[in-house]
Amino acid sequence: MTCILQLGPLTERFNRGLAAAHEVLRIWEQDAEALLDQHATRIDIVVTSARFGCTAALIERLPNLRAIVSFGVGYDSIDVAAAKARGIPVSNTPEVLNDCVADLAFGLIIDCARQMSRADRFVRAGEWPSGGLPLAARVSGKKLGIVGLGRIGEAVAKRSSGFDMQVRYHNRRPVAGSEFGYEPNLIELARWSDFLVLTCPGGESTRNLINRNVIDALGAKGSLINVSRGSVVDEPALVEALVEGRLGGAGLDVYAKEPDVPEQLFNLPNVVLLPHIGSATEETRQAMEELLLANLHAFLERGEMLTAV
Ligand code: DGY
Repeated sequence: MTCILQLGPLTERFNRGLAAAHEVLRIWEQDAEALLDQHATRIDIVVTSARFGCTAALIERLPNLRAIVSFGVGYDSIDVAAAKARGIPVSNTPEVLNDCVADLAFGLIIDCARQMSRADRFVRAGEWPSGGLPLAARVSGKKLGIVGLGRIGEAVAKRSSGFDMQVRYHNRRPVAGSEFGYEPNLIELARWSDFLVLTCPGGESTRNLINRNVIDALGAKGSLINVSRGSVVDEPALVEALVEGRLGGAGLDVYAKEPDVPEQLFNLPNVVLLPHIGSATEETRQAMEELLLANLHAFLERGEMLTAV
């Protein structure tokens, strides 16, 4: 029987299904050190997620590890280089979450502009009878800058056509055949944009890509929307710009050190804070679990994965 080390819980349905077909060691339910001391040599597969990742130290600790199967599209929390150095394939769950993450990005755009979360707080606090809210900004006809025109970025761009928005994007290289305008200079893109949406991957290549200069170029007329990774943004610079009013607003689903959210943001009216829920719908999470299992079974049956990274 295949021995699987599962690094964190997914849905109950998934946890039960996995344990019914394989021997599963659930690291979060027990003393991790004791579990590894006893079972490290028996572990064939690691099942993990974008959230729980897999470190080089853990990979090194498992001498008979054959594959790492992950839930989520991002794999910046998995040491893929350490896995590849041992010939261990890694899979993720791309594509099936594109629409869901793009929907959320668009929700954040609308919320930042129309101040829906703020208005909701206003009503719940009983402030309506005695006051009003400042006027918000429109979404339709505005300029949308996308940092990372990959699969999710494309899905965000597609949604914008219903809002008559102009779209430009920044990537390391232009996307062949794209209908959207390419902007090689990120500062210029930020200066042009009303909404700058981050849909690029996390990891070292994009760490602090959105620095103080980019934030200042977006400026008090602009909003930053992040559904990518907190590491892409210089978070202290972002907080400072929001506190000082140098940036118009922010819609954030991701943070540098999740689940820690900078406390200075809590009382700012122009910031929407979500707890990393980009893919968190029933339909999408189920599709992600199914793709994870398909990768696992393809590896066990044929030695290859459907969506290896
Ligand atoms: C991902 O799949 O990488 C998302 O951020 C969800 O965790």
